[in-house]
Amino acid sequence: MASSSLPSISLPVNVFELNNILSLVLTLTITSILLANGAMAMAIPTTLDGPFKPVTIPLDESFRGNAIDLPDTDPRVQRTVEGFEPEQISVSLSSTHDSVWISWITGEFQIGNNLKPLDPKSVASVVRYGTLRSQLNRRATGHSLVYNQLYPFLGLQNYTSGIIHHVRLTGLKPDTLYHYQCGDPSIPAMSGAYCFRTMPDSSSTSYPSRIAIVGDVGLTYNTTSTVSHMISNRPDLILLVGDVTYANLYLTNGTGSDCYACSFANSPIHETYQPRWDYWGRYMQPVLSKVPIMVVEGNHEYEEQAENRTFIAYTSRFAFPSKESGSLSKFYYSFNAGGIHFIMLGAYVSFDKSGDQYKWLEEDLANVDREVTPWLVATWHAPWYSTYKAHYREAECMRVAMEDLLYKYGVDVVFNGHVHAYERSNRVYNYTLDPCGPVHITVGDGGNREKMAVPHADEPGNCPEPSTTPDKILGGGKFCGFNFTSGPAAGKFCWDRQPDYSAFRESSFGHGILEVKNKTHALWTWHRNQDFYEAAGDQIYIVRQPDLCPVQPETYRLNKPKPQKAKRR
Ligand SMILES: *[C@@H]1O[C@H](CO)[C@@H](O)[C@H](O)[C@H]1NC(C)=O
Ligand SMILES: *[C@@H]1O[C@H](CO)[C@@H](O)[C@H](O)[C@H]1NC(C)=O
Ligand SMILES: *[C@@H]1O[C@H](CO)[C@@H](O)[C@H](O)[C@H]1NC(C)=O
Ligand SMILES: *[C@@H]1O[C@H](CO)[C@@H](O)[C@H](O)[C@H]1NC(C)=O
Ligand SMILES: *[C@@H]1O[C@H](CO)[C@@H](O)[C@H](O)[C@H]1NC(C)=O
Ligand SMILES: *[C@@H]1O[C@H](CO)[C@@H](O)[C@H](O)[C@H]1NC(C)=O
Ligand SMILES: *[C@@H]1O[C@H](CO)[C@@H](O)[C@H](O)[C@H]1NC(C)=O
Ligand SMILES: [Fe+2]
Repeated sequence: MASSSLPSISLPVNVFELNNILSLVLTLTITSILLANGAMAMAIPTTLDGPFKPVTIPLDESFRGNAIDLPDTDPRVQRTVEGFEPEQISVSLSSTHDSVWISWITGEFQIGNNLKPLDPKSVASVVRYGTLRSQLNRRATGHSLVYNQLYPFLGLQNYTSGIIHHVRLTGLKPDTLYHYQCGDPSIPAMSGAYCFRTMPDSSSTSYPSRIAIVGDVGLTYNTTSTVSHMISNRPDLILLVGDVTYANLYLTNGTGSDCYACSFANSPIHETYQPRWDYWGRYMQPVLSKVPIMVVEGNHEYEEQAENRTFIAYTSRFAFPSKESGSLSKFYYSFNAGGIHFIMLGAYVSFDKSGDQYKWLEEDLANVDREVTPWLVATWHAPWYSTYKAHYREAECMRVAMEDLLYKYGVDVVFNGHVHAYERSNRVYNYTLDPCGPVHITVGDGGNREKMAVPHADEPGNCPEPSTTPDKILGGGKFCGFNFTSGPAAGKFCWDRQPDYSAFRESSFGHGILEVKNKTHALWTWHRNQDFYEAAGDQIYIVRQPDLCPVQPETYRLNKPKPQKAKRR
């Protein structure tokens, strides 16, 4: 209650002295500010108050400095280990609380010509761990690999990575701090001691406290601002919704560009500078060696190379709980974090109803027990409900293929990146406001070196020609868009004002924090980089209504074997 905080403001002792009248005025002013804040804090809106009238926060011109990449001379991106000591250490979750992945890199990458890749078998993959720092009495081993980024074109340089190690720890207790060291004890080359905390057990009453969600990160000075704000919010888990390092905004000789395709149109292939991945891994190690990260792929991870191989750095460097979640692909998988079931979808692999991903998704959804994981959260890179001009309706084919399935299983929230700005939707399904549709949130505002998205498709002259909206990589450039058939935008491809499905939008860098409180309430807070750490740029309780919106509908249940509880895969 706001009134209970009042007594802490003491009145001046001697109010009749002139000096103190001034201070009384000051005190009263402070009191009223505190009251106003208290009132605001209590009035966090909930989705039950919606649908909300669309809000656009006007562009703050004072925050338009260019996003500049950290140079390779920055100490935070340089190699600080020797020989085969581990670097770029990170933790990822497996599909259930009792298991995590530890990943790291040993040995030096090489870039240039006539490279001789390292032998991944030459360095062992061992993790020693335990609940006491002084007693790392458990041991796990894993696998290692090296990847190459090859450009068989005159003048371009090849890259071969250090040895990448992935080790899965199993049999872990929920919500427990584990200490670990990784490396090869026989060289010897073990890392220092790090620690991570496992997720709580999956149940309707246990949730991780804070999940940070961020996309389109890159490695600029703005990224470092986003990351330090994120750290100050003490996340238990980080979700990266695609577009990681932006290594593809560089030539193989290390020359960078904000728009590679504009500046180097004559390049025989879209080059990358793979050391940017190593820089990113080094910069992030202090966070990721402690806080687990879960990633979905973005278009910047495509990174085509010789023999049309794509996504090689992405699939080699991160560990994904694909096998553990019944997926045959690193591009889509699922996992539990307490009472939340996360579905990580691939926008840049087939999402057709006849494809493997769709079949996997149907099965995964059918196996979700909402008594155990009441919350169902889906993420992928390219948003379905963004109203910015950049990438407007680019993912329509994916939406047309998958939206009804996600809706029928009652997905509560969707997180996306790709569009370099922030936007939160009203509950929506098939472009129609629907109290049982998910809330779609775009957080592609991590701070990468490309431009921030500012223009909206509904502003005069900004509606793209429909045939130009599909993306080559997403759905093979197929066009699935159509003009709206009803509502104020009937007959047109764009609205002429902020669409009713868009609740709030703002062009600023930042990150979000999801705090699931119980089986009905989750607090979502968007933090802007220009604000104090704890200030909210947007805040709302996302409220589930399982009675109004039943999940796992009969039609699906009838066709499926009865979902098994706590199924182990
Ligand atoms: C990015 O960071 C620079 C300082 O490095 C700052 O001037 C600029 O305002 C930031 N941009 C945004 C959009 O926050
Ligand atoms: C890079 O690798 C390709 C494929 O092996 C090879 O054809 C090319 O000559 C290599 N380039 C350099 C600069 O070594
Ligand atoms: C890299 O290549 C580009 C394009 O050929 C050239 O403009 C640039 O000067 C080169 N940079 C370095 C550091 O060699
Ligand atoms: C590989 O890519 C090149 C250049 O884009 C294209 O011409 C060729 O057909 C592709 N090859 C295969 C096997 O897809
Ligand atoms: C979605 O809306 C479109 C037209 O706006 C309609 O043709 C289509 O059948 C709807 N899809 C579903 C699954 O309701
Ligand atoms: C769809 O709407 C756009 C304008 O938003 C218009 O240019 C186009 O002709 C319309 N297409 C159809 C098939 O009506
Ligand atoms: C769930 O959490 C919200 C927000 O903290 C609270 O208002 C609500 O009473 C809680 N519901 C239950 C059933 O505990
Ligand atoms: Fe993207």
